Amino acid sequence: MMQGGAQSPLQQLTALLGPDGILTDASALEAVNVDQLRAYHGRALCVALPRNTEDVSRVLRLCNALRIPVVPQGGNTGYCGAATPDASGTQVVLSLRRLNAIRSIDPANYSMVVEAGCILADVQRAAAAAERFFPLSLGAEGSCQIGGNLSTNAGGVNVLRYGMMRELTLGLEVVLADGRVLSSLTALRKDNTGYDLRQLFIGAEGTLGVITAASLKLFPAPRASATAFVAVPGPDQAVQLLSHLREASGDQVSSFELIPAVALELVARHISGARSPLAPQSPWFVLCELTSPRADEPLNERLEESLATAFERGLVSDAVLAQNERERRDFWHLRENIPHSQRLEGMSLKHDVSIPIDRLPRFVQRASAWLETHVAEGFLVCYGHVGDGNLHFNLNERRGMPAGALAARRADIRRAIHDLVRDEGGSFSAEHGIGQSKIAELQHYADPVELSVMHTLKRMLDPNGILNPGKVLNVA
Ligand code: MLT
Ligand code: ZN
Repeated sequence: MMQGGAQSPLQQLTALLGPDGILTDASALEAVNVDQLRAYHGRALCVALPRNTEDVSRVLRLCNALRIPVVPQGGNTGYCGAATPDASGTQVVLSLRRLNAIRSIDPANYSMVVEAGCILADVQRAAAAAERFFPLSLGAEGSCQIGGNLSTNAGGVNVLRYGMMRELTLGLEVVLADGRVLSSLTALRKDNTGYDLRQLFIGAEGTLGVITAASLKLFPAPRASATAFVAVPGPDQAVQLLSHLREASGDQVSSFELIPAVALELVARHISGARSPLAPQSPWFVLCELTSPRADEPLNERLEESLATAFERGLVSDAVLAQNERERRDFWHLRENIPHSQRLEGMSLKHDVSIPIDRLPRFVQRASAWLETHVAEGFLVCYGHVGDGNLHFNLNERRGMPAGALAARRADIRRAIHDLVRDEGGSFSAEHGIGQSKIAELQHYADPVELSVMHTLKRMLDPNGILNPGKVLNVA
């Protein structure tokens, strides 16, 4: 019992949300205390489960008054520890999962309003049921939540054609640190009424406010697609092939993924039944897809012709087109299982980088050469959304190495790779965010003026530092 009969923070939170709105049992805490890569292990005070925006507002008002840190958490599928509480036992994990309503769909305006706790796949399905398309697509779509997608400015495999979460968002509803609700769920494409505040909260990883709902852009549903698995001599030819396909198809390329032979070997080793549709001799492959909202569009023919021209130019050495939906899914199955296979193979280091696309082949060549001479402990598995200049320049521990050998090199390998990324005009965080894992990188590589403006914004919007402290910026 607190002195003088005063209620503890837990009792006050329970009074706000009701007994089913605050969880303190071991299994509930276990689920939120660890990130999906099991790299961060925290200890939350409790899990708060608001039912609506008003509940979120009341929780934040209380936590702000009591100076209790709040860690917003969506599907907990992030890679940078942004949604994991610290080990103090004082932080409240704010789960948005009960805010999971599709508030409205407006097919004529090509927009929909959804709450933060909606699972991405449910948002896609709701759009499809209205004969519209919500294009954000990524491996975790069956469990990640739209609030997390917004807070990390998620990317995925359709960015080339449709953009990242920033480009897909028309308006936001956000609860500020003091509990005020900034409600701007506009469905407008044109709105120049002052500063564009929504962009402050997208990609802020819950450090500036808690996103509770969003107005999202929709598109005509794709009704025709053509998918090819293509062998290419190297990243240089892959980049040229992309340019060629964009022109030849009338810009209908929606995905363009680079896959090295070693990634296919890992998938074949760890995922039963997964086999490359092409002979494994080629060092590199591309998985590309054209889509169109017109069912009668002859995309297969167009893709076949374009690949034939690319073959004559030496950009392609072999290619196979998916003949039906099952083959298409098999091709994507190979790509989507690369991260999972990397995990099954053993310890790995992730580098989520982006490079201006014309400099990407040189980066791959320079960074691979550096690894070859300096890193015996691991091997490179470099794949990703090459159409967006985004590579997952990951390493896996080599078999037979003493346990922990690659992990011990984490910091120096990361710095060397990120230095090369900077030299080529790129970014050390393309689509996975900063969280806890890349704070030092942001400190090191960000422009000092940019960093100082970020700190100013943080102080202004969260003067008591209760919103996801210890994430993105170096402030506790
Ligand atoms: C992917 O594109 O598969 C993920 O973003 C990459 C990763 O897990 O490193
Ligand atoms: Zn990715």
